[in-house]
Amino acid sequence: MSSPKLKRRGIFITLEGIDGTGKSTQFRQLVKHLKRLGYRVRATREPGGTRVGEQVRAILLASRTQRLAPLAELALMYAARAQHLEEVVRPALARGEVVVSDRFNDASFAYQGSGRKLGVATVRAFDRVVCGETQPDLTIVLDLNPRVSLERAQGRERRRNSAHGRFEAEGLAFHARVRNGYLAIARQEPRRVKVVRSDRPVAEVQAEIRRLVGQFLAGRRQ
Ligand code: TYD
Repeated sequence: MSSPKLKRRGIFITLEGIDGTGKSTQFRQLVKHLKRLGYRVRATREPGGTRVGEQVRAILLASRTQRLAPLAELALMYAARAQHLEEVVRPALARGEVVVSDRFNDASFAYQGSGRKLGVATVRAFDRVVCGETQPDLTIVLDLNPRVSLERAQGRERRRNSAHGRFEAEGLAFHARVRNGYLAIARQEPRRVKVVRSDRPVAEVQAEIRRLVGQFLAGRRQ
């Protein structure tokens, strides 16, 4: 099957949402679907996506006991992002691929800007320098009541018995702020950011994601 032709450069799709919304499952299924349609897909994730990025990720997610200043956390997110953009995202977009990332810069606005209360202006300052013009074309925000998502996410961490989970360990108020951060971005940028309710069966959520992505790609095809 020949790859459907895309206008201009490649396309940048991101998946976002608070912890425990089932995002990773939805991400995997979306990537598989796009590949089946014949798109050249570069699947990636943040924080991480590169060797350096995965090392930064380990610092970011490890050990609840290790205190990290909110600004240090933000700077590390953007350090990983700078590497990710240079090594993965920009080259793939230049080749005309569809880049699908499990989280990207909206996570910094929601988690560090709203969750950690650093504010939009501070995050934007980093974003201008690091991301510049390379912004997602389409962003799907999986939305779930934080009471439900937190229970899921914390249960998962317990099962893994992992040392990770600095974010999962945060309380309900933190996750409620993160969720509101995402919803505020969606209100400000309704064309780019689509909110998908994830309090329903996986297949239903996936069907809506595919519909939204399909609509977007149809508009970009030659
Ligand atoms: P991860 O295990 O990838 O969570 P999930 O599987 O739910 O995506 O951990 C990523 C964590 O990092 C997640 O709690 C969100 C947080 N994060 C930020 O706080 N800011 C950011 O800019 C990014 C990319 C992630």
